[in-house]
Amino acid sequence: MKVFRSSLLAAAALLCSASLLAQGAPKLKVGLMLPYTGTYAALGTAIENGFKLYLSEQSNQFAGREVEFVKVDDESDPSKATDNVNKLIKRDNVDVIIGSVHSGVAMAMAKVAKESGTLMIVPNAGADAVTGPMCAQNIYRTSFSNWQPGYAMGEVMAKKGLKKVVTITWKYAAGDESVRGFKEAFEKGGGQVVKELNLPFPNVEFQALLTDIAATKPDAVYTFFAGGGAVKFVKDYAAAGLKKSIPLYGSGFLTDGTLDAQGAAADGLFTTLHYADSLDTPRDKAFRLAYAKAYKLQPDVYAVQGYDAAQLLALGLKAVNGDLSKKAEFSAAVEKNKIDSPRGPFTISRAHNPVQDIYLRQVSGKENKVVGIASKALADPARGCRL
Ligand code: PHB
Repeated sequence: MKVFRSSLLAAAALLCSASLLAQGAPKLKVGLMLPYTGTYAALGTAIENGFKLYLSEQSNQFAGREVEFVKVDDESDPSKATDNVNKLIKRDNVDVIIGSVHSGVAMAMAKVAKESGTLMIVPNAGADAVTGPMCAQNIYRTSFSNWQPGYAMGEVMAKKGLKKVVTITWKYAAGDESVRGFKEAFEKGGGQVVKELNLPFPNVEFQALLTDIAATKPDAVYTFFAGGGAVKFVKDYAAAGLKKSIPLYGSGFLTDGTLDAQGAAADGLFTTLHYADSLDTPRDKAFRLAYAKAYKLQPDVYAVQGYDAAQLLALGLKAVNGDLSKKAEFSAAVEKNKIDSPRGPFTISRAHNPVQDIYLRQVSGKENKVVGIASKALADPARGCRL
């Protein structure tokens, strides 16, 4: 009788807490700090779309908590980033910050997140430092480190037997680190970077640099550009007549989400990235169909990274029953489980960066087609991360 009564009581308590959770669990405040203007505007929108697509597939709640968004346009401007992120954390009291696209903005965000302990998920920016010297238990990335696609392309180009390469990029963390990763692998494989060309972000006056490339006559060019800048660079490179004589290679951002605008100028280009348009897996097909239906747009790598930021958040929240103060449990769950991404399943390293396959892709018409896997389960070296 006593046993019966106590189990009745336990059942009642369980019911009560379940219904409390359903009605009374506080909303989860998600701060989206992304670029909605400037050269990276389309990237910010794709990330938000991807995030919201996954949320809608979870009946619009994570671990029983409905989600409320607070949005900030960070303009890809690092000088405004600290103020912007402080507003989200202190004024709006968000539970988690999702951002950003630009490496300089993400580093400013990570500094504040590390100091305040606020959960942060980076859905694009590759700044090596975020999962290097700035790594923290509460900071995660669902995209890549700048080193990763660059390193993979360095191996590919060295194996092709290319010897002398010129690099060209924007002078800021993403460009510098992409080139550094490329150079590390390319020179290890016997190649040589003969000239490193730069221009300030987000400038697109490429003519003088293209003239320099023509005069230097390298075997090939390696580049990092993205968004609106990538559209213009690929078109200018072709228009300058360089495409046939000096093959252009890049990290995959050069041709992701940009092919409609680049047209024939992009055709045939080889790039390396953790996503492609022709993966042809059931997981990716379902994602692409759902995304196209919801937004009347084709997804790209940014949409995938946003989708996976939502997946990571859902995974961690489930493990802690919606209680974000349990940081160690959240982190343990994320590190232990695979993320079932449209790009293919991947794991999160101890430094909280994806360990993932990097595809070699070639542009064919409006698609980045998979040619092969350039680097299998590539992990960022996480130099300087102490956890
Ligand atoms: C970056 O700033 O880290 C960045 C921006 C756009 C990309 C990739 C990386 O497509």
